[in-house]
This record gives sequence, C-alpha cells and structure tokens, in this order.
Amino acid sequence: MKIIRAKDYNGMSRMAAHIISAQIITKPDSVLGLATGSTPIGTYEQLIHWYQKGDLDFSKVTSINLDEYKGLSPDNDQSYHYFMYHNFFKHINIDLNNTYLPNGLEKDSEKACEDYNHIIQKSGGVDLQLLGLGLNGHIGFNEPGAIFEKETHLVKLTQSTIDANSRFFECLEDVPKEAYTVGIKTIMQAKKIIILVNGENKADIIKEALFGPITPLVPASVLQLHHDVIVIGDESALSKIPQ
Ligand code: GLP
Repeated sequence: MKIIRAKDYNGMSRMAAHIISAQIITKPDSVLGLATGSTPIGTYEQLIHWYQKGDLDFSKVTSINLDEYKGLSPDNDQSYHYFMYHNFFKHINIDLNNTYLPNGLEKDSEKACEDYNHIIQKSGGVDLQLLGLGLNGHIGFNEPGAIFEKETHLVKLTQSTIDANSRFFECLEDVPKEAYTVGIKTIMQAKKIIILVNGENKADIIKEALFGPITPLVPASVLQLHHDVIVIGDESALSKIPQ
C-alpha cells in the first residue's frame, strides 16, 4: 500500500487525476470503477480540464459506478446517475452506452444485483477503482458489518450515512434508506485501487482503516489485503498517520 500526502484538496485531486490519466493513456479501453460523494469531484474536474486541453480521450473507456440509491430515477438530482452525468460524463467524450450504475428504479432487488454483476463480468473487470471513504468506514455503500464475500447487493443505509448524506437533500426524510452497491468482493477484484480522503473528519477513520484490525466493522480495512492500493489524502485527513 502506498500513502501519498497532498497539501490540500486540490493537490489530492490532481494526484488522483494523474494516476487515472496514466491508466487511460496506457490502456485506452480501461474499465474505470467510479465513485460519487464530494471527495472525487475535484478529480473529475481535473480530468475534464485535461480532456478539454486535448490530453485525454475517453472514447473507449467503460465506467462502472459503485452504487445508486434504490428508488431514485436517473433524472432525480440526488441520484448518482445525475451526479455522474453532470459532474463528469457530459463534459467528456465517454460513450454514455459504456457508463454503468445500478438501476435504482428496479424494484426486484435480486434482478437489479444480478444484472449489475453481469455487466461487471462482461466488461472484463475493473482496471482502476476510485473510492471515497464514509465517516463510518464504508466504501461504496458497504456499511459496517458488510460481509467481505458479497458482490452487488441491496443495503439498508445506517443512520450515520443517512445523516451524512442528508446535506445533499432538502430534508432528512428525503434521503433514501436503501441502496444498491457493488460488494467488497467486487471492489477487491479491481486490479488497482485509489482511495481518496480529505478533511479532518476523516482522520480517525482512515487511520483505523489502514492500521487497525481487518474487520467487516470497518469495511475499508479490507483494503489492507489488496496488492495495489494507493491512498491519497490531504494533510488534515492524514494528520493522525505517522510520516
Ligand atoms: C457516499 C458514497 C460513497 C462515498 C461516501 C463519502 O455514501 N456512497 O461512495 O465514498 O459517501 O462521501 P464524501 O466524499 O462526500 O465524504
């Protein structure tokens, strides 16, 4: 595991974008595992900037997102479909037919998960997985207690996640209580993983995830077992990790 310290959020975002760029340049038909949340927005902005300068070509890239709220349609401005389209896809030349997120509108949960697993298998697997980190150690929407062996599945969101994500919704009641997420097993099958952390409020949980016991109670701790993980954090998020 490599830990890269960036000065601030911009520095973190640029470093992540450099690694993703190198991935696309060396393998133009890369399968990228993408994440939502506020953490990766700067990375997407940097990639858009380099695309606009003519340095990047996304035409052969496939993207597979980690998760989607159950019950939200793609045009709901709180859905992850909406987030990805507006923060990234509409600004680059990725073929929208090659961008995937779980189908939040599928009521048959088993079908939604099977379909998504099939898409991942058909893609040949994720080359580079980008992750954020939930305050309770979740990755994707794999909440504490998540079984490491799972592929895509339906989760009940914890109160901590509902509270944390309520800042994007008009009120707490609007936050969906369930979501489809790629499982830990699938995340661990990615060839390379980048996890981004910024801000003081992530300092304790990133330390626990990287140096504490490997346990489903801290889902991100499983990353200690992956052979190619790059942690990129700003000074505040990495402040409790010794140099
Ligand atoms: C959500 C997403 C996660 C993300 C997490 C952290 O719950 N499902 O993929 O990593 O939030 O969000 P933020 O980056 O806004 O702190």
